Amino acid sequence: MPPVVKPAVHFGICMSPENFEFIARLLRDQSGLVLTRDKGYLIENRLAPVVRKHGFKSVTELVGAAKNGAAALRAAVVDAMISKDTGFFRDWTPFVHFQSVVLPNIVRARGEKKKIRILCAGCSTGQEAYSIAMSVRDAAEALSGWKAEIVGIDISPAVVDDAVGGVYSQFDVQKGLPVRKLLTYFTKEGEHWRINPGVGGMVEFKTWNLLEDIYPLGRFDVVLCRNVLVYFDLKTKLEVLQKMSRVLADDGVLYLGLDDAVSGVSGSFQPVAPDQGVYSVVRPGHPASSSLAAKAR
Ligand SMILES: C[S@@+](CC[C@H](N)C(=O)[O-])C[C@H]1O[C@@H](n2cnc3c(N)ncnc32)[C@H](O)[C@@H]1O
Repeated sequence: MPPVVKPAVHFGICMSPENFEFIARLLRDQSGLVLTRDKGYLIENRLAPVVRKHGFKSVTELVGAAKNGAAALRAAVVDAMISKDTGFFRDWTPFVHFQSVVLPNIVRARGEKKKIRILCAGCSTGQEAYSIAMSVRDAAEALSGWKAEIVGIDISPAVVDDAVGGVYSQFDVQKGLPVRKLLTYFTKEGEHWRINPGVGGMVEFKTWNLLEDIYPLGRFDVVLCRNVLVYFDLKTKLEVLQKMSRVLADDGVLYLGLDDAVSGVSGSFQPVAPDQGVYSVVRPGHPASSSLAAKAR
């Protein structure tokens, strides 16, 4: 008996198994994201704007064109399917850990170089990278004379453009940004808030696919890759973690989202405070106690 393939159905709209497989494969190959059948309902919702923008009558017509058409249309399909959900100081505790443990350790460990580099991988519209920049800026006294470089990367050129713009709605800033930080680090422009150049200038954003090598981005003391791996299959997760391990300093720190957990599946990192998503690099000759993430060094 041939296997029974259930069609993905949403609001009475039925997508053929072939079209579902096409989109799932496209997503996996181009971004690493895994689309399971139970998430099939997302397809109609997320592709509706692409259908409208390109003048198609239905998702089926769009998928047909994407199968035969230009790479740009396939990229638009992938971009539309990816979750970009984010917010300032999302989940809060990693930022407390960064400020109370990692930054003081960095001040001690990098006192001669006076340089700190942080990668924010899967940075969406920039809130996470700017949150880290604000945290560094809050420690300005201890970091006087230091150079701080924060690099934000994301596969989606559209969110990278927004991140570079650094302009946020009232809704965006109400989502997690303390009023004191809003008033210190942003300027009101009409209905919106623009990040001030002092903090904005610390962050550089680039369109970059995590499936590609990240080595050209250089070495980092801290990597944040939060709420990204959760969408990948295990093989891709491990490959991305391997790349993160290669760009991190021996005492470097990795922050993951709570659902990105890699405990027991990655030889590259060990949990320091898993409840806060904090990991140290596994390196021969470098015990976890020497990590920038370790509380008492
Ligand atoms: C759910 S958002 C999380 C944003 C932010 N890290 C946070 O936790 O608030 C996931 C981000 O990862 C990006 N992303 C997904 N796959 C990617 C890939 N292969 N390479 C780079 N970025 C990717 C998406 O475009 C999206 O902006």
